[in-house]
Parts: sequence; structure tokens; C-alpha cells
Amino acid sequence: MDYIFPLANTLHALAAVIWVGGMFFAHQVLRPALGANEPPVRLGIWGRVFARFFVWVWLAVIILPITGYAMVYGDFGSFENAGMHVTVMHAIGWVMIALYLYLYVVPYGQYRQAVKAEDWPRAGKILPIIRRIVGTNLVLGLITIVVAVSGRFWG
Ligand code: HEM
Repeated sequence: MDYIFPLANTLHALAAVIWVGGMFFAHQVLRPALGANEPPVRLGIWGRVFARFFVWVWLAVIILPITGYAMVYGDFGSFENAGMHVTVMHAIGWVMIALYLYLYVVPYGQYRQAVKAEDWPRAGKILPIIRRIVGTNLVLGLITIVVAVSGRFWG
């Protein structure tokens, strides 16, 4: 069973890379690049991008807590033993997951309906809400990664 914690740690890091890296690409690269397109084209592309990316985000939001708790309780024994950086990561992680769940159910649910109905003015109003939440989660994700990888060197 020696492989369990290295495997948990690896899956944990991969899930973080895919989620945070995907948000970085969407927010910082794809969004400005698509800006020049007409709304029906741009909003339709975003609908298809979200449909594919969110499958991976669902995997990440399931894998991160499972592997995180496996490491905390299985490897370290407790949050106290794991260190302050893990407590901080845990708190920010749940804020990120809660924001994603809200994003998926409320604005993304409305966005999907608007795109299906080809109601582009409505889809165009919802997209900035999704962008703000993704932008917030991107910043939180980057902070979490800094905390996670620097934490073992604190104090
Ligand atoms: C949901 C609750 C979470 C728990 C309980 C948790 C727990 C842990 C633990 C115990 C470690 C190992 C720390 C160490 O070896 O010093 C770790 C590492 C890490 N975590 Fe989390 N984590 C959570 C969420 C997140 C989130 C949301 C992200 C980023 C989006 C993240 C990114 C990372 C990264 C990048 C590492 C470093 C891996 C390495 O250096 O080997 N974690 N986490």
C-alpha cells in the first residue's frame, strides 16, 4: 500500500493543474482571442467550451477533497500535523468548490438555456457573471497553489 499516498498526491496535483490551468487559459487567453467575433459565434463557442471544460472541473472538485482528506487523515494523521498551509488550502479549496457549484447550477444553467434558445442578448448578459466567478476562482486557485507548494517551508 506504499503507493497510495504518492498516488493521492499526484492525482491531487494533476486535478489542481487541470482546473486552475484551464481557468487561466479560458480567462487570460481564449476570452481576449474570441473578443473580435460576432456575439452568436462567440457565445456559441463559449457554450461548447464550458460543456467540455466543466466535465474536467467536476472530476477535479471530486478528486481534490477525496485525495486531500486521504493525505490529511491517512498520511499526516490530522490537520494539526499537516500544517497551517493545509488548513489554509482546505478553507480556500471549499470556497472554490462552493463558487463552482453555484456557477454550474445558476449562471451556467441560465446560460445553457439562453444559448439553446439562441437568445444572444440574454446569453451576453450572463457571460460576464460566469467570467467574474471564474476570475475569482482563478485568483483563489493561484493563491492555493502558492500556499500548497510553499507551505512546507513556512516557519
Ligand atoms: C478541498 C480540500 C483540500 C485538502 C484537504 C487538501 C490537502 C492537501 C494536502 C494534505 C497536501 C499535501 C501537503 C504537503 O505535502 O505539505 C496538498 C497538496 C497540494 N494541494 Fe491540496 N487540498 C485541498 C484542496 C486543494 C485545491 C482546491 C487546490 C488547488 C486548486 C490544491 C492544490 C494543491 C497542490 C498544488 C499541492 C502540492 C502538491 C505537492 O507539492 O506535492 N489543493 N493538499
